[in-house]
Amino acid sequence: MESQPLSVVVLAAGLGKRMQSRQPKVLHRLAGLPLAAHVLRALAPLSPTHTVLVIGHGADQVEATLGSSYGLDASLPITYANQPEQLGTGHAVLMAREALRGFHGPVLVLYGDTPLIRTDTLNQLLSRHRQNRPHVTMLSAIVEDPTGYGRVMRDKDQNVLAVVEERNASLTQRAINEINSGVYVFESDWLWNSLQGLQPNQPSGEFYLTDLIGMAIKEERGTGTTSSLAMGARGKRRLLTFTLDGMEEAMGINSRAQLAEAEVIVQGRLRRQWLEAGVTMLLPESIYLGMDVHLDPDTVLYPGVILEGTTRVATGCTLGPNTHIINSTIGENCRIVTSTIEGSTVERNVTVGPYSHLRPGAHLMEGVRMGYFGEGVRSTLEPNANMNHFSYVGDATIGEGTNIEAGTIAANYDSVKKHRTTVGKNVFLGSDTMLRAPIEVGDGATTGLGSVVTKDVQPHTTVVGLPARMIRRLEQTPQEAEEPQESTTDETQTEQEKG
Ligand code: UD1
Ligand code: CA
Repeated sequence: MESQPLSVVVLAAGLGKRMQSRQPKVLHRLAGLPLAAHVLRALAPLSPTHTVLVIGHGADQVEATLGSSYGLDASLPITYANQPEQLGTGHAVLMAREALRGFHGPVLVLYGDTPLIRTDTLNQLLSRHRQNRPHVTMLSAIVEDPTGYGRVMRDKDQNVLAVVEERNASLTQRAINEINSGVYVFESDWLWNSLQGLQPNQPSGEFYLTDLIGMAIKEERGTGTTSSLAMGARGKRRLLTFTLDGMEEAMGINSRAQLAEAEVIVQGRLRRQWLEAGVTMLLPESIYLGMDVHLDPDTVLYPGVILEGTTRVATGCTLGPNTHIINSTIGENCRIVTSTIEGSTVERNVTVGPYSHLRPGAHLMEGVRMGYFGEGVRSTLEPNANMNHFSYVGDATIGEGTNIEAGTIAANYDSVKKHRTTVGKNVFLGSDTMLRAPIEVGDGATTGLGSVVTKDVQPHTTVVGLPARMIRRLEQTPQEAEEPQESTTDETQTEQEKG
């Protein structure tokens, strides 16, 4: 890393009209991360002394989203500069001037809608600039389809003349396949001076940052050195280019279609990264990975696995087919089949699914088996607990080695409040047990088939049933009609109350 200080300006004030969205463009996501956050992450390793984010459209939302998350806070303190009216990229950079007052040196400028740029490329661009110290070093790219981008015009000796925006370009200029990526390094003093000299372009009335390229060239030529040879010998170059081969890193996102194209590229990169790190993917194109997913080696992903948010998967797991995991941690050697897991912790040697749902706050400890149609929320299943068929636990703790038979429910909600259920170790909850929370079931207790448990169960106690009770009879004698029926009140509710 070079020691010379660096400042960065990221432009993120635009409306992003072509997105057809109420959301500011730079907050649209790729692999779960806002576009501008991709840019910030790519530049963070350059350790800039100042990073200014120019915001305008949806400023509060942009600041709130980017300022507080994505692990950038500590490594990359950001200053926000407001551009109240979006008068063009040149005007936008000028808005950062105040925040960079007193800074003299290279200023890296990037657009917040160019999320595929890589740290390596930025480093190369910077060192090219630092070796020569021109007014500006521009990152361009040779692409197949330049539609929509500013074109880099060169003379017959390949010296840059200017950048011409598509809407101002002639047909011949539009055929040029070298584009401006929107990434530049400027010398600060020259940058601020020159920005003040920008004229609005017609018909848009916008101040184009790209006009600075032509200005740098004019100054270069003003020194009397016109051919590249002569300049190499004695002139001072005012403009340098660093040219990429292909669109991948230079791609700017202006539309949903471009967002989708960029997602394909990002997913390709992420899959390659984790394949190289030792993860098996049976059908890589069917796997979706978020930027903050971490996979240990020897995990196998069956088709249709979606891993999002901050998710870690330890070694030796088999995930999928068709499994969706969000903001969760999965321990070693787990097997998760056709299930959804969000905001949960799964420890080692656990099996989940098919068709189970762990909702936020579920914690399956080592060796737990949750089978078919299990649902858990804010609940802990302690080691080796089994919950194999159609059961629900909400706000519950299920003790070590406890066995939950089919169709059991920890009924946590009384229509007003939620209550906790605590089941001890090595308990056997028979099929269709209903636990009415708040309730505790002691260690080693057993509930019979279909028990409705409304009172705490002491350890090593067996409780059974909700005895059937008569609620009506079609034919009754007058005498029977006068006498109150004994079996219609609460007292019949549970066997266990009597025992
Ligand atoms: C721009 C370049 C073009 C380049 C392309 C690369 C200019 C004039 N054109 O075109 O040469 O090939 O990017 O992707 O620079 N922004 C502001 N304030 C403004 C206007 C824009 O902050 O007043 C921000 C936007 O939020 C966006 C970025 O600057 O992140 C680029 O603006 P955009 O309108 O997308 O420029 P392009 O037409 O793509
Ligand atoms: Ca753009």
